[in-house]
Amino acid sequence: MEDQLAALESDSKRVGTQGQAIDFALLVDGLAAEREQGITIDVAYRFFSSATRRYIVADCPGHEQYTRNMATGASTADAAVLLVDARKGVLTQTRRHAAICKLMGVRHLLLAVNKMDLIGFDEGRFLEIAAEAEGLGIEQALPVSGLTGANVFEASADLAWFEGPTLMAALDALAPADVEDGGPLRLPVQWVNRPNQDFRGFSGQVAAGEVMRGQDVRVLPSGRTSRVARVLVGEREVERAEPGTSVTVTLTDEVECGRGSVIVGAAHPPEVADQFEASLVWLAEEELLPGRGYWLQLASQSVTATVQPPKYELGIDSGEHLAAKTLGLNAIGVVEFATDRPLVFEPYAASRTLGGFILIDKLTNATVACGMIHFALRRASNIHWQAIEVSREAHARQKGQKPCVVWLTGLSGAGKSTIANLVEKKLHALGRHSFLLDGDNVRHGLSRDLGFTEADRIENIRRVGEVARLMADAGLIVITAFISPFRAERAMVRRMLPPGEFLEVFVDAPLAEAEARDVKGLYAKARAGELKNFTGIDSPYEAPESPDLRIDTTTMSAEDAAEAIVALLLRRE
Ligand code: ADX
Repeated sequence: MEDQLAALESDSKRVGTQGQAIDFALLVDGLAAEREQGITIDVAYRFFSSATRRYIVADCPGHEQYTRNMATGASTADAAVLLVDARKGVLTQTRRHAAICKLMGVRHLLLAVNKMDLIGFDEGRFLEIAAEAEGLGIEQALPVSGLTGANVFEASADLAWFEGPTLMAALDALAPADVEDGGPLRLPVQWVNRPNQDFRGFSGQVAAGEVMRGQDVRVLPSGRTSRVARVLVGEREVERAEPGTSVTVTLTDEVECGRGSVIVGAAHPPEVADQFEASLVWLAEEELLPGRGYWLQLASQSVTATVQPPKYELGIDSGEHLAAKTLGLNAIGVVEFATDRPLVFEPYAASRTLGGFILIDKLTNATVACGMIHFALRRASNIHWQAIEVSREAHARQKGQKPCVVWLTGLSGAGKSTIANLVEKKLHALGRHSFLLDGDNVRHGLSRDLGFTEADRIENIRRVGEVARLMADAGLIVITAFISPFRAERAMVRRMLPPGEFLEVFVDAPLAEAEARDVKGLYAKARAGELKNFTGIDSPYEAPESPDLRIDTTTMSAEDAAEAIVALLLRRE
């Protein structure tokens, strides 16, 4: 393929279409040896023109570890050329790529059976491979040789038995690309442009439809209507702008609109929801952690999403729906997820822009998955918040205190429970209304069904966080004592509460110290291999980076630690 691409590239230099409008986006999934050795990792974009149209080519390495790049290329491609080595035939990876292309809305799939020169241009072998590819949704299989150039741009005597077109002719014959230009306006707002008091412009790229001066629009998710006052392309004022154009618009009314809002045709708004079903392609070494909060980016919107255990994983070779608890590297699955704020969206089948998203790990900032929304779950629109008449402020006022969650985190045996108990005794003596949630106790009831895997710990902390939040709503000062080993979940609980109502206290004891104390004898068991997933031994503990208070248990007594925590609470009041 490299040789073919070299040919295409020199062609692109000759024609020089870079920067011009592209008629057709093509994905080429290569399996070149140098890439298998990990030399090139990015998607390489190249431009070239044939006699009939201008192409942009995303050259994607085919190797397993680069599925991410392949998915990136597929998300914008009109057609894909899947490349197989004639000596190897259709591999699992080929099937995976075909499945991803189909999911991502690539409308045409061609199979190029390359290196025909290495199998003596054997027709029988070619037909075998074409048969192997049955069921992948391939439109046409073509024998080629990148090395000799046979059947790439020109037919070859070596392949005289082949009656089909050359690769280039097959591409040129594909139905033209349809852009998402029909339909109503979709303008995701990237940023608000406010150079002075008199000008408030909303900038972004028109994803679909046209934006016109005087047009009636609706701003989502708020749903407020307004009218387009001005349309600017750069500094230039225009009457209308087409899809793909970066614009700044102003509206006739002061409506709520910011980064992540979507300006749409007033009469045909897309949907807004916070629970969905979607396909996911998992791109990270670390598995999906159901229940963990990931950043979800869709168009210009950024929210926190929590994913349920998969409904199923797609068996790449069998095409079957397999039961799965999670998704690993390169897995394709169907999941349900919820977002912390409403998302403006359309099903992926209707709009790649408003239906496609990525998931990002909040700690590492790595993109861990890309997804395609199928539909919003009906239950999202059928469960409403019940308005509560006695507000949380009223609850707190009656108790004469400021609610708070004091969250103690640290290794098993660090002294969390002891300190938490002392804190509550002191608060009680001071006439404060409080409640203590303790790990061991909660695990006898609320979390009786949970063990100590990562997923179970995440769920445990989610439940405790929700309960603590309800108790804070009731006006209480809540003290919690859980190992709560992961930063992401502690941060999640912090976000559940109003600013300032979550105090993270790190009960810091060196592992050796906690192990030496071993009050419950659990460290000994863990070391003996009788207790799996024990925090600090074979399960990680992520210490807080900037806790509201750090208790150094090697120098401070439990009594003094409790004093320090109460003092911190009183200072807040
Ligand atoms: S957390 O990780 O989900 O926050 P939690 O604080 O509820 O843990 O429970 C920790 C307590 O469970 C420990 O103090 C210990 O007594 C007990 N325990 C039993 N098995 C384990 C284990 N594998 N890892 C840690 N603690 C364990």
